[in-house]
Amino acid sequence: MIKKAIYPGTFDPVTLGHLDIVKRGIEIFQELIIGIAENPKKKPLFSLEERKEMFEESLKEMGLYSKVKVKTFNSLLVEFAKEEGAVAILRGIRIISDMDHEFTMASINRKLYPEIETVFLMPSDEYAYLSSSVVREIAFYGGDVSQFVTEFVERKLKEKIARIKGAV
Ligand code: COA
Repeated sequence: MIKKAIYPGTFDPVTLGHLDIVKRGIEIFQELIIGIAENPKKKPLFSLEERKEMFEESLKEMGLYSKVKVKTFNSLLVEFAKEEGAVAILRGIRIISDMDHEFTMASINRKLYPEIETVFLMPSDEYAYLSSSVVREIAFYGGDVSQFVTEFVERKLKEKIARIKGAV
């Protein structure tokens, strides 16, 4: 049986920390699907399609595009995992405080769909503090995000923020 995993997230936008988890995930699983959640409760800066494009272009920049598929979903994660025939949900744990939230999500997902396992991977130390909201905030105030995201995402962030600032 092909061991397929879903790496879900909001990815608003994808960071080098997420891509670090992808690199580790493809060493373990035969197929990896990135599941970008609509997640309206987070009021994402980028649309679902923009987030998908940023992930795909970032994978191309990193030479990972042929190894991973990027999909979007607007349902329960376990339903999406079931449709895809995935055996595992992949999540990154950056710091110990992530555990609380991750443990809760993994337990609920197991209740909803006992056949699925959640697998946690640790990103490289240099990304332990990184999050999409930190990247958005630095970009918003004109800071340099080049060490946190790919060139494509850096460009998209600049364009988006210039548009927002131009509109106010
Ligand atoms: N590198 C950089 N940042 C990372 C990271 C890494 N390796 N690992 C986690 N993060 C960041 C994310 O960017 C995100 O940052 P942000 O809050 O600044 O955007 C944060 O850590 C994690 O946020 P969280 O809300 O826990 O997860 P998410 O946004 O990545 O995705 C879903 C959450 C999509 C998996 C979850 O909401 C979901 O499953 N939704 C579908 C509906 C559902 O099934 N609900 C029931 C679930 S119990």
